[in-house]
Amino acid sequence: MTQELNDFINSIGELEESLIPRRVEQITDDFANSELSEAFGTDAFADVIDRWYGNQPGLLWEIIEKLRDRSPALASWANSSLRKLLKAPAEVIFDRSVLERNIKEKNGWNAPDEDVKRWFSALRIYLHTIVENADTQAKLDIVKQLWTNREGIRPAISKEWPVDARKLVGLEIKRFEEELNQVLTNQTVVVANTKAARARAREDLSLPGVVRPFGSRHPLRQTFEEIERIFLSLGYSVVAGPEMETPYYNFEALNIPEHHPARDNMDTFYMAAPAGASPLLLRTHTSPMQVRTMEKQQPPVRIIVPGKVYRRDNPDATHGFMFHQIEGLAVDTGITFCDFKGTVEYFVREFLGPKVKTRLRPSYFPFTEPSVEVDATCVFCGGKGCNVCKQSGWIELFGAGMVDPAVYGFVNYDAKKFSGFAFGLGVERLTQLKYNINDLQLYFQNDVRFLRQFV
Ligand code: PHE
Repeated sequence: MTQELNDFINSIGELEESLIPRRVEQITDDFANSELSEAFGTDAFADVIDRWYGNQPGLLWEIIEKLRDRSPALASWANSSLRKLLKAPAEVIFDRSVLERNIKEKNGWNAPDEDVKRWFSALRIYLHTIVENADTQAKLDIVKQLWTNREGIRPAISKEWPVDARKLVGLEIKRFEEELNQVLTNQTVVVANTKAARARAREDLSLPGVVRPFGSRHPLRQTFEEIERIFLSLGYSVVAGPEMETPYYNFEALNIPEHHPARDNMDTFYMAAPAGASPLLLRTHTSPMQVRTMEKQQPPVRIIVPGKVYRRDNPDATHGFMFHQIEGLAVDTGITFCDFKGTVEYFVREFLGPKVKTRLRPSYFPFTEPSVEVDATCVFCGGKGCNVCKQSGWIELFGAGMVDPAVYGFVNYDAKKFSGFAFGLGVERLTQLKYNINDLQLYFQNDVRFLRQFV
């Protein structure tokens, strides 16, 4: 055998079931290509096909069928291969003369019954073998044609018979045909079932599915939840307010009149409104909810207000045009600065850990009096001084103070009877301190390499 032929055959390789029809076409094409068949000769080619596909009868059958149709030179090889494949003495079937000869020569016309019966039982074995080997409907159709076709078995054996044998042969043909139809019908069901089973098997349930990685909550959301947990445990409730506010709630009712310089860094982000409509702006802090809440209820009030706020700031490592605050407000009879200080210290300890100390620095907000900035000992150096705290050992946390009695005037609270405190926590800033994040923009860039660190 030539090397070339071996290479060709090797290139066909082991076959996946789904590739078989295409491979069969390919093999037939390759062979029908005259150069190839001339080069190798039909015998060599047939020999290889036999050896290569001999243990894959279904495939071999198809290859043989196709080759026989395409190449007359292969017809005799194909026929004998089929017979081999079907393990039956084809001469007995296709050559009626054998039967005739038997009847004539061996037994004579006096006792033809036995030979006719033996002949049909050989035929039966042959066709049963074919049918049982047929694993597709197409093959079953071929079997049927093998019987009924013009060149098929039935026409071949229905020809003129000696008178003695005629009746018996006719009966046998009828019996055989009924039986064949029955066997074909049964096998059709089997084939359909196997086809369905194969289709099922092709869905490989052992394949790993699509992996959807677990997400995690955004660090800001985690801080929100942590702070909400701390204040809920102190008896506060959580309320939300509108991000679009009226100047009245955002400024006036918080004791920031129109001319007041405290408006300067906040007087921005107004909505385009039709002429004559009352103006709206994106809230610059969550403090308006102090007023909205007090308008609706008399003390005691203990609320926190988480949410987004907007300012005209250019984005950099410590600024953004949108950030998050949590407002706090407690109003009741007899609330003193000590309650305020105690609450603030408790919150900072819970949130940043027991080692952190707090201090209050005088500050100014129009809606609190006195106003303070709450500082904490630097979480990075423990108060020794580093470049985060600019060597001071302290870090500014948030603004707060006792509610200015002027605000009570806007909400109909009796300033003589009630007192309280308020604070405004910057969520980005607290998160930054807790997790040592050096750039505020990281919160909003949705980079999983950053977010993954907070799982
Ligand atoms: N609303 C103030 C701010 O943005 C913070 C604050 C809230 C101060 C409550 C005192 C009391 O910046």
